[in-house]
Amino acid sequence: MSKVIGWEHMSSSFVAPHVPALASLPAGVITLQDHETHARTRLDDNAWAYFSGGAGDEITVRANRSAWDALQLHPRILQPLAGGHTRIELLGRTLAHPILLAPVAYQRMAHPDGELATAHAAAALGAGMILSTLASTKLEAVAQAVVQDKDRGPLWFQLYLQHDQGFNRALIQRVEQAGYEALVLTVDAPTSGARDRERRINFRLAPGVSAVNLAGLGPMPAPALQLGQSALFDGLLQSTPTWADIEWLKAQTRLPLLLKGVLHEDDARQAAKLGVDGIIVSNHGGRTLDTTPATAAVLPRIRNAVAKDFPLLVDGGIRRGTDVLKAIALGADAVLIGRPYVYGLANAGAVGVAHVLRLLRDELEMAMALSGCRTLAQVSPALIFKQD
Ligand code: FNR
Ligand code: LAC
Repeated sequence: MSKVIGWEHMSSSFVAPHVPALASLPAGVITLQDHETHARTRLDDNAWAYFSGGAGDEITVRANRSAWDALQLHPRILQPLAGGHTRIELLGRTLAHPILLAPVAYQRMAHPDGELATAHAAAALGAGMILSTLASTKLEAVAQAVVQDKDRGPLWFQLYLQHDQGFNRALIQRVEQAGYEALVLTVDAPTSGARDRERRINFRLAPGVSAVNLAGLGPMPAPALQLGQSALFDGLLQSTPTWADIEWLKAQTRLPLLLKGVLHEDDARQAAKLGVDGIIVSNHGGRTLDTTPATAAVLPRIRNAVAKDFPLLVDGGIRRGTDVLKAIALGADAVLIGRPYVYGLANAGAVGVAHVLRLLRDELEMAMALSGCRTLAQVSPALIFKQD
């Protein structure tokens, strides 16, 4: 029998084995939380309020995190682990691992290379990337940078429907032509949340940063408000999408359509009934409606509401490999991270995003092995400890 290797030795040789010392990152940055702490020193107050902030009292921002923390893993021992892997099947593709980059707007405010850096890092690490409608880089340029890379993860486009149907149609055509492989319609933000930190600081987009993919969109027709009318209900919300638009949207595109921002099992059922191809369980990282439940709390009932093989993703507060494993145990096929990779981007551009992805994936592998799971297909709700 081979000599037992001490855990000290294993951890020093195993942890992040593929990540060389990064000249541009301080040596102590070895977790996603470290990236966040370091990013605070790299971003100005304006960008920090935007990227790190949430809605209202940020109760949902904290709830997302604490819900993952509160779940306990109930590991099994002496399981065969050799040949294990993190691969998953999603929308007809095999992915190297279940970690995708959530759509985050205006990434050139975090780093001059913005979304291009993010796309290169995602491709290099085989991670899926979802480009925001409010990206600060042209969608064609982002696709062109990575679309030919055969080891990349999926490239999806997040859609905020605009008030002009002609513009929406043209935007979808551009997205298809550029090579994006799915549309992700965000449905939890008919308006912005009460983002107090941004309002306090009088948040402004940095000079030279804008939603370049919306260039050419005319102003929203604004009917003159009568006394007593609401600027929101009688103004801004005139053209926000409804269930009827899901059918319209499906008719516009050959791409699979996912809905992002589902928290209620009845909405999940309705989406599946309408032929939507997948759901992202999300509360927008606590940036829209404050005091919603944590995504970890609603994920199991949404899994129960749809077919066993219906694609389900989740985001919000995922910061550790153990969080990813818990999400899979609760029924997700894959997870998204938002803020952590933006902090990586702020810290070291593409290298920083790649570092964040590598750390999280290495942590996931360790968590799987230590839980007795060779593959993610073996992971089931039984991995979550239930108190008697
Ligand atoms: C977002 N999110 C987001 N979602 C979306 O559908 N379209 C968008 O343009 C944006 N923009 C955006 C900007 C910033 C600064 C953040 C932090 C988030 C939400 C995002 O996709 C995701 O749901 C959350 O970020 C996930 O939570 P964590 O990982 O940040 O806790
Ligand atoms: C946000 C919007 C852009 O969360 O989705 O900032």
